[in-house]
Amino acid sequence: MKKSGILQTDFFGKLANSPLVLASGVIDVSYSGMLRAVEAGCGIVTMKSLTLEPRKGHNGPVVAEFAGGFINSMGLCNPGIDSGLKEADDFKNRSDAPLIASVFAISTDDFIALTRKVNDSKADAIELNLSCPNVADEYGIPLAASKEKVTEIVLEVKKISRLPVIAKLSPNTYNVPEIAKAAENAGADALTLINTLGPGMVINIHARKPMILNKFGGISGAAIKPVALKLIYQISKLIDIPIIGTGGVLNADDAIEFLMAGAKYVSIGTAVYYHGIEVFTEIREGLINYLTTNNLSSIEDILPLS
Ligand code: SIN
Repeated sequence: MKKSGILQTDFFGKLANSPLVLASGVIDVSYSGMLRAVEAGCGIVTMKSLTLEPRKGHNGPVVAEFAGGFINSMGLCNPGIDSGLKEADDFKNRSDAPLIASVFAISTDDFIALTRKVNDSKADAIELNLSCPNVADEYGIPLAASKEKVTEIVLEVKKISRLPVIAKLSPNTYNVPEIAKAAENAGADALTLINTLGPGMVINIHARKPMILNKFGGISGAAIKPVALKLIYQISKLIDIPIIGTGGVLNADDAIEFLMAGAKYVSIGTAVYYHGIEVFTEIREGLINYLTTNNLSSIEDILPLS
């Protein structure tokens, strides 16, 4: 990995070696996977969303590839908050890279209980996953579809969180900018935009079956990049808090597009399935080349479009 301070960036008072973020749900259940991502050039790590109790998730196949990216319906498989936070602490005992603990719940009380646990961990920020599109059968439509619910949860979590609070929103409503503004007004310190699109469906015509067992799933990858860019661009003009941009970042040019759209950090998930964890090294080097070729001295010199 090339060493260079040119990509260093602030993350709520902590130094991140690059603005590149490991997206939630990608080799981030164990501390060793997260360390590998950081060694490859990722600056900030997000954990798989943790719930109060462990969850097995959906039966497989839970992921399938199609021309535009991937469809997944993992069903929030995770070891539960207590085991998950042990991995978080194990990671932080070995690395200074900022770590975001992502949590999922469906009630404000459960979000509060999760926040209390994250407060006692070594995590650097908490991300409220308000937007998983894959558990509607169990819990109904995602909380991120409701401005009132987003407001209530962020307000209550902010009252007790000792860490910066990040709200992860869904692209799957017509009023995402309004909901984003509501999250900021409720006290969110940052937004993650966007969770997966859909749910959608992909069919195996030979087996005459949906490609994933759960039939429907969230869409990630190149197909959703224009949606993510549009929402980040629009929302960054409405709010003053930073945006972690995510959705179809496959290479350095994509990451630069996200920065130009108005994201401060760029989160990468699907690209790891295509290229392995080394994709962070490639993107990092691509960013350094772009900065040097354009005589820019820091990543913050890539300014958002007007
Ligand atoms: C899943 O576990 O089904 C995906 C999580 C998410 O999209 O928030």
